[in-house]
Amino acid sequence: MSELPELTPDVESGEEGFLIKPEFKPKSIRSFVIRAGRITVGQKNAFDSWWPVFGLSLFKGPIDPEQVFGRKAPLVLEIGFGMGDSLLEMARNEPDKNFIGIEVHPPGVGRLINVAGQEKLTNLRVYMADAMDVLEDCIPDAAIDRLQLYFPDPWHKKKHHKRRILQSAFVQKLRPKIAPGGIFHMATDWQAYAEHMLEVMNAAPGFATEFSETGYAPRPDYRPITKFEKRGERLGHGVWDLLFKKTS
Ligand SMILES: C[S@@+](CC[C@H](N)C(=O)[O-])C[C@H]1O[C@@H](n2cnc3c(N)ncnc32)[C@H](O)[C@@H]1O
Repeated sequence: MSELPELTPDVESGEEGFLIKPEFKPKSIRSFVIRAGRITVGQKNAFDSWWPVFGLSLFKGPIDPEQVFGRKAPLVLEIGFGMGDSLLEMARNEPDKNFIGIEVHPPGVGRLINVAGQEKLTNLRVYMADAMDVLEDCIPDAAIDRLQLYFPDPWHKKKHHKRRILQSAFVQKLRPKIAPGGIFHMATDWQAYAEHMLEVMNAAPGFATEFSETGYAPRPDYRPITKFEKRGERLGHGVWDLLFKKTS
């Protein structure tokens, strides 16, 4: 159980609302832009009711997943769940697994915990923090059976490519966190990012794909079609899934 992150009334906007701060450690390059996390009164109520049930704090340090969920079960961790629709659907569809979502966008976190609370989901927890920090400080080695990174911000411009979350150094940071034989599942609707993912993962020690012919995998049944994917489809983009197994 975690205390609610810092919340202050938003007096400057002239509308009723609150500012809420995701949890960060000091860092220069981030895979997202830090914005004032403004939430509505309704979302604040969701935080008041449900954060104590679903929220985990970066600053509490390493977790024991078995203790967090009160049971031993395969752990799925999702980075950047956005508004949370697909993560919620997976938590409903796979009750035999434990799910942890990490997201820095407060309205998305508010929405996820509100729905999870109303549906009384017991196999879902959430960090409102930078995934890089959470992986480093909170997730024990070999804890993750499936790591999900769906439709990460593509950072189109070349000068922004250093902000892309999927980088060789990031993959080596998360490698020890995945259990032997565990899966790192990525998806994107941006071809250049798919190619970048493939290049990084093909070169990454400790990972291999069974789909070596093209490098891309068919969408596994457990991954629902996300909001971004639907949008991509409307815009005529393709979608690329990459499934890499942790081999060492
Ligand atoms: C393009 S959206 C995709 C959202 C969702 N996965 C989907 O498919 O609908 C990328 C999300 O990743 C989140 N994000 C980016 N970097 C992150 C980080 N380092 N830690 C946690 N969340 C992050 C952003 O806030 C954003 O909500």
